[in-house]
Amino acid sequence: MKFHVTAMGCQMNVGDGDWLTRALVSRGFTPAREDQAELFILFTCSVREKPEQKVASELGRIADRHGANPRAFVAVGGCVAQQCGTALWRRFPMVRLVFGTDGLAGAPAALARLADEPGLRLSLLDFTETYPERDQAWPDDRLPPKAFVSIMQGCDNFCAYCIVPFVRGRQKSRGLPAVLAEVEALAARGVREVTLLGQNVNSYGLDRAGDGTSFARLLDAVAAVPGIARIRFTTSHPKDLSDDVIARFAALPELCPALHLPVQSGSDAVLARMGRGYDRAAYRRLVDKLRQARPDIALTTDLIVGFPGETEADFRLTLDLVRDVGFDSGFSFMYGDRPATASERMEPKIAQDVKSARLAELQALLDERLAASLAAQVGRTTEVLIEGQSRREGPDGPSWRGRDPGGRIVNIALPGPGDVVGRFVRARIRQAKKHSLIGEAEADHD
Ligand code: SAM
Ligand code: SF4
Ligand code: F3S
Repeated sequence: MKFHVTAMGCQMNVGDGDWLTRALVSRGFTPAREDQAELFILFTCSVREKPEQKVASELGRIADRHGANPRAFVAVGGCVAQQCGTALWRRFPMVRLVFGTDGLAGAPAALARLADEPGLRLSLLDFTETYPERDQAWPDDRLPPKAFVSIMQGCDNFCAYCIVPFVRGRQKSRGLPAVLAEVEALAARGVREVTLLGQNVNSYGLDRAGDGTSFARLLDAVAAVPGIARIRFTTSHPKDLSDDVIARFAALPELCPALHLPVQSGSDAVLARMGRGYDRAAYRRLVDKLRQARPDIALTTDLIVGFPGETEADFRLTLDLVRDVGFDSGFSFMYGDRPATASERMEPKIAQDVKSARLAELQALLDERLAASLAAQVGRTTEVLIEGQSRREGPDGPSWRGRDPGGRIVNIALPGPGDVVGRFVRARIRQAKKHSLIGEAEADHD
């Protein structure tokens, strides 16, 4: 059966979608473009209202395009599935499987059954006590050079604004041997860069499900896997970023000089109401330590504007922090109430027009920061891991697209034919575009 996966929301969903793709291929399913597929798998997001609405519009669109095919059906996973459960069946008759985060491990078997039994519907929505291990029976084919590896599920932090702990459940770390087995299996299939995923990777191993391995020790172990040349991780909570992990930025050459460290606000009053567990000064100290360990580290962040009670002065403190830290880029979001969260009941709510104006001002500043960060790379020599062909065609042949160690996109023209995906190319940065860099190959090595 031909299937198509769409992953919305965060990288956790992208990683889960990649795993399910590999698991389905090993069961004889075939990945296909959306217009040719009969099984549609949506990994959904409910962190804000907009992504949640996107799920309904996507399901409506699939029903319009494929509803006439009696074999066609939909599986919905991720956070909206966990939140809405089997109510999705009633609204969208094409949906025959709903699965939550902990149900993912059982999804390949459930999908195989559904393909054979057209009258059936299934739900996999229970939370489990431990990390539900997923089978690693993968095809031997070469994989793309970059892969995500989930190291934990759920979150225990209950930041006041956030729905994630309600839809992803309590934090459950995966055991070290299972993580290493997956990284080794990926490396054997050509993967050179892994991104370790969790809502709060810094507290890896510290929950009941964990085997006592700290995140810093996990980094050491992953770095030692032959073939793995680059490691990234996301997301980091500042309150749990230990000195041991910071030291790894200096000690492990495989650990990329890039860190996404969501700060959310520059105001101590707002941070306290958000329940983030750190203040501005503590965050600033972390930045200093990180830069001491790795002066070239690219720092990115998440910011929320218009949290209940946020004053103009609070917002100015956020702008000030962005300038002060000199982030390389960041994501900014307008606060929105989410069901069951603590801030849903907090007052006063900030008016929509005030939130919009603050978001626009913050986004303009973050755009400036991104432009400055990209411009600063011009003239530097860097190493690019080639991920695929670029949409741009260079004058001397096909152009390729990859990332530098800081995670910036670099387009490079490489002379001659041949597939260079998965190779490292030394490049000099010639030009900065709005969201990417243009490089020139110096010499290539692998
Ligand atoms: N676990 C990560 C962390 O601790 O930062 C990521 C959490 S969430 C999946 C990604 C981002 O969405 C958050 O960092 C936050 O900026 C934003 N976000 C979460 N809830 C929100 C809400 N109710 N309104 C606006 N933005 C929100
Ligand atoms: Fe949400 Fe906070 Fe957990 Fe991140 S750490 S997922 S923002 S509750
Ligand atoms: Fe969205 Fe769930 Fe991720 S709410 S951001 S898909 S953890």
